[in-house]
Amino acid sequence: MTATVTSESVDPGEAAQPASARFPDGFVWGSATASYQIEGAAAEDGRGPSIWDTFSRTPGRVHAGHTGDVACDHYHRYRDDVAIMADLGLQAYRFSVAWPRIQPDGTGPVNTRGLDFYDRLTDELLSKGIDPVITLYHWDLPQALESRGGWASRETALAFADYAQIVYGRIGDRVRTWTTLNEPWCSAFLGYAAGVHAPGIQDPAATFRAVHHLLLGHGLATEALRAAGAQTIGITLNPDAVIPVDPTSPADLAAARIADGLHNRIFLDPLIKGAYPDDMRELMARFTPLDFISAGDEKQINQPIDVLGVNYYTPSYVSAKPGQPASPAAPGTEGIDFTKPAGPVTDMNWLIEPAALTLLLERLHNDYGVPLMITENGAAFPDGPAAGSDEVHDTRRIEYIDGHLRACLDAISHGVDLRGYFVWSLMDNFEWAEGYAKRFGVIHVDYATQERRPKDSALWYSDVIRRNGLG
Ligand code: FCB
Repeated sequence: MTATVTSESVDPGEAAQPASARFPDGFVWGSATASYQIEGAAAEDGRGPSIWDTFSRTPGRVHAGHTGDVACDHYHRYRDDVAIMADLGLQAYRFSVAWPRIQPDGTGPVNTRGLDFYDRLTDELLSKGIDPVITLYHWDLPQALESRGGWASRETALAFADYAQIVYGRIGDRVRTWTTLNEPWCSAFLGYAAGVHAPGIQDPAATFRAVHHLLLGHGLATEALRAAGAQTIGITLNPDAVIPVDPTSPADLAAARIADGLHNRIFLDPLIKGAYPDDMRELMARFTPLDFISAGDEKQINQPIDVLGVNYYTPSYVSAKPGQPASPAAPGTEGIDFTKPAGPVTDMNWLIEPAALTLLLERLHNDYGVPLMITENGAAFPDGPAAGSDEVHDTRRIEYIDGHLRACLDAISHGVDLRGYFVWSLMDNFEWAEGYAKRFGVIHVDYATQERRPKDSALWYSDVIRRNGLG
């Protein structure tokens, strides 16, 4: 079993010369967004507050005090946005449902006006031949649940399964593909360890409880959705391509193994193999009694899934460095350094390394054997229209996506079962702690006027879709 990607095998040149630039027939092409990042209408039609409303209103948490109150105003402009998607020829659209629109208090009464919105959006997509791909949880937890312990509490896992059934009950007759959670690593480790995402807590014990309750919520929801008749069910992770700086150094390899455990195996092993890895149980036990893992929980988490969503942006480099304090986002990583080598980066300062995606996909395929889908990949670059022009020449975004699509082709040519690709993001949006300062869209959004302008990358991507491949 290959636990990590080795820098020896990362050869960026390798990704530049694919044997074939065509994707398999039936490969799905889409784009992705998330509710809090684009919808706005934060206090409309009975929506309750989410942890991101609270967090973004807390001074110092989000760049320049930005909030999702208005965002891209997609709640009101969804018809126009779907029309743009149709113009681009998108086959599928991955969006998330805002739990606080459906159950403003997290549990109990259902707000039908919230369901109405997703019902309308689903019908609009279907009327244009675009397949809706639903994410049930993309980080906007009802604040009422956080106030009762959030993901650190078992109650939230149970509540999530109820909420999933409510949404399914309304649009399950038309939506084929269901994703339970988006990137539970971020919810747990950025939300409860580093505290840089909502709810902004720094508590390792709460972090590991959150990991478990997120996974349990996934398992309970998956079982319920399956019983209700859902066709395709998955979960989206952001598995890390962990690269030991010196693959010949046992200390670096050991460091990489821990980093891989905390980011990847702690989620993938219970999900797909039915048990937490022993080393991660030991690591968690350094911070908290494991009394939150009840008998039968790992079996409950280990529901068959039809697809594993993979969000990939950048790899991690790790090395052993005695005396290094633990990373705030990774309790238990004392003595491990996460410094990345110099290289081309995006506006997020994320290293651009497509070849690491190929190796990551191969590793997931070999170790876990499930069908894969790239549910997010893309890049932040600040390009906007020049004065008096509608054109946005975002060449670096095109290069980024092109490189990563070639990396996908490489993985496919090596036997990886990769079913589709969703570019992050359809349009510029609220980039969490970075507010509106980082632009990931293939559509440019002018936040003052809410005008949308397809960037060059959108037109290029449209061509890729049309020919099911790269030129
Ligand atoms: C992912 C998130 C997504 C977006 C991208 C840039 O971690 O799932 O919402 O913010 O990063």
